[in-house]
Amino acid sequence: MLGNFSYCNPTKLYFGKDAVEYLPKELKKYGKNVLLCYGGGSIKKNGVYDAVVEKLKISGKNIIEDPGVMPNPTAKKLNEGCKLARENNVDLILAVGGGSTCDYAKAVSVSAYCDCDPWKKYYLEMQEPDNRIIPVGCVLTMVGTGSEMNGGSVITNHEQKLKIGHVFGEEVMPKFAILNPEYTFTVPKKQMTAGIYDAFNHICEQYFSGDDDNTSDYISEGLMKSLIESSRKAVVDPQDYEARSNIMWSATWALNTLVAKGKSTDWEVHMIGQAVGAYTDATHGMTLSAVSLPYYRFIMDSGLHKFKRFAVNVWNIDPEGKTDREVADEGLLAMESWMKELGVTLNITDLGVTEDMLEGIADATFLCDGGYKVLTREDVITILKESM
Ligand code: NZQ
Ligand code: ZN
Repeated sequence: MLGNFSYCNPTKLYFGKDAVEYLPKELKKYGKNVLLCYGGGSIKKNGVYDAVVEKLKISGKNIIEDPGVMPNPTAKKLNEGCKLARENNVDLILAVGGGSTCDYAKAVSVSAYCDCDPWKKYYLEMQEPDNRIIPVGCVLTMVGTGSEMNGGSVITNHEQKLKIGHVFGEEVMPKFAILNPEYTFTVPKKQMTAGIYDAFNHICEQYFSGDDDNTSDYISEGLMKSLIESSRKAVVDPQDYEARSNIMWSATWALNTLVAKGKSTDWEVHMIGQAVGAYTDATHGMTLSAVSLPYYRFIMDSGLHKFKRFAVNVWNIDPEGKTDREVADEGLLAMESWMKELGVTLNITDLGVTEDMLEGIADATFLCDGGYKVLTREDVITILKESM
């Protein structure tokens, strides 16, 4: 049964090959000073930087550059961005990049005028912003997180060995997002497949929870099927526009708040993956792929009805003459073989995890109560050992 909810997604999307042409239309809604955030330089090699800067210039903007946003943006980098934003009286933060850049932009947006330590306020204490918020816009170059159309912002604190996400409200979600699938053609295969698995797992996190008869789960099954189909084409031909555009659109829907509406959700794979990320700084999607199969096999009996449905509706497993458990097992085997086809990481050892880290990773793992089985710290250790 669907629970009660309200729904509003304020992000305006422009999708397609000419999406950047709509950037000036959005830019004119904001003042002169634009903080241009980007990562380690991929946008300078593939022409996206030039395309965006041209639009900023014809719109008469004063550009304040904030490069060097690293994958898994840090609390230290956040403090630098806040200083830049404040000192230049920034009117708009424009994130050009993937989830890391977009998450970082949202973090700067709420933190620039925060009168205490933003890491403590927003990430450790999960407080809501009560100060001036700078609007954020996004030009997406890497697909997976859904950050372009949600309020999520994940920050890593290496000193404290913690990676924590805060899901901010509508006022922090990007005001607009430019989505040109061609911008993703240059994403390296490892990042592309990590992003695809990230998006797939976002759907799993919302699907493997609650009862069966709700519209959200049917939407989720459609999105998962589209991702499976398109990812198989994109790994063969990264420039397949149809495949890349379907992946981009599915990934946005996977985490733009829609499929979570009216139902409970899990998020335990992300909690374990983020703790692994805090210890290894590994690529986000790979931290998820490395722990997913052991986790789902561990909880399968507690949500057998849903794992059976997943096998039949998503992986086309024929249930005839089989027990529910056999069908569910076959579904996870089909998922495993797809993950191998993509080439995503299937164990945490390859991400740099060693035995002596397991206790610390378990301590850094938040335990969720929305999934089919509420884990204990010992369960997390068992899953981590299975993932080695
Ligand atoms: O830094 P540059 O040089 O741009 O290179 C990036 C980076 O090395 C590269 N890249 C991006 N677009 C490219 C490209 N290379 C060539 N051509 C392009 N067009 O890809 C690398 C990874 O980028 P990143 O932004 O880190 O990847 P992703 O989009 O996966 O973001 C990961 C971050 O998002 C957080 C993760 O925890 C992680 O910190 N998440 C955010 C969520 C949210 N906002 O809701 C939810 C997710 O579950 C996730 O936790
Ligand atoms: Zn994710």
